Amino acid sequence: MNIVVLAGGTSTERAISIVSGTEICRALRSKGERAVLVDIFCGIEDYDPYDAFPEEYDVEAAAAYMKGFDSRISEIRRERRSFFGPNVLELCAMSDIVFLGLHGANGEDGRVQAAFDLMGIRYTGTGYLSSAMAMDKNITKQMFAMNHVPVPKGCSMVQERRENDLIRLGLEFPVVVKTCCGGSSVGVYIAHDQEEYEKALDAAFEYEGRVVVEEYIDGREFSVAVVDGKAYPVIEIQPLSGFYDYVNKYKPGSTIETCPAKIPQELTKKMQQIAEAGARALQMEAYCRLDFMMKDNGDMFCLEANTLPGMTPTSLIPQEAAVLGMSFADLCEELIRVSMRRYDEESDD
Ligand SMILES: Nc1ncnc2c1ncn2[C@@H]1O[C@H](COP(=O)(O)OP(=O)(O)O)[C@@H](O)[C@H]1O
Ligand SMILES: [Mg+2]
Repeated sequence: MNIVVLAGGTSTERAISIVSGTEICRALRSKGERAVLVDIFCGIEDYDPYDAFPEEYDVEAAAAYMKGFDSRISEIRRERRSFFGPNVLELCAMSDIVFLGLHGANGEDGRVQAAFDLMGIRYTGTGYLSSAMAMDKNITKQMFAMNHVPVPKGCSMVQERRENDLIRLGLEFPVVVKTCCGGSSVGVYIAHDQEEYEKALDAAFEYEGRVVVEEYIDGREFSVAVVDGKAYPVIEIQPLSGFYDYVNKYKPGSTIETCPAKIPQELTKKMQQIAEAGARALQMEAYCRLDFMMKDNGDMFCLEANTLPGMTPTSLIPQEAAVLGMSFADLCEELIRVSMRRYDEESDD
């Protein structure tokens, strides 16, 4: 297949996305696919329109080309109106499918998916509506609650109606304050007392006009991928210090990740069932990954759903796939297969 692997972009997760994209492109090439790596925002200046998906291709050179733009992102942003870089849409339109190796805003929030739908460009992962719903933690909580997916007790708050008194929100310390549409734990704060709570609100509102305030779940952390409606093995995430914040997410060796998680089988089953129900609640297609906290008594709570989760070989979903005997390259092919399903159904109509 001719595949464009889209990565990069302008979000805070740009660097991670370039790593994911490079690895995905390399893996797909190892499977004989004609994959090329393209920065969604910076694009590509010259390519051969008659041989856009060459048999011989230097993935490293493509990755280096992308990284060359890192320091100029805000400058380019000021100069340009379109989010899509030069030749990006042309290349995507020529491909059989686009593998979305993006993370964060402008990729995970559904807008790229909506644009691609209208242009007839096929892509991996779920569609625009589920992406947009999952991007917003307040909407996610409501969709989960309506569908009996357990969530931490809490509410959302806009800056104009800031509430400093937790009692009026029906909550007590400790609480978690987080931006509605953040990611990678940026804008997530744990507050143990009034002073920390007010500081957390100040900081979160710096990022966004709407935040979620919810009960802090004291317990162990897990994540579960749902691929084509079915849960993969549960993975446990244990940061060596603090919570699963930005540093613990991306600094190698700062968390212990165990898959399959060492919890009783009935709890594994229950978490997988909740994950599948959560994916259904948000109308997820293809694949996604849901984050969980579980108290010592076995009560579990779904924190959020990620529609374009990390896809480096050491990311969480690839570790879960490995337990099922799937290599990273096998997983990349599987994600294409389950994403293609939607288009097969379309052509049957
Ligand atoms: N209610 C909560 N109780 C305990 N820890 C939480 C809670 N909400 C978030 N966290 C911690 O913060 C991290 C990031 O929160 P999450 O809601 O997954 O947002 P994101 O990953 O999009 O930044 C979680 O992985 C978890 O470690
Ligand atoms: Mg998360």
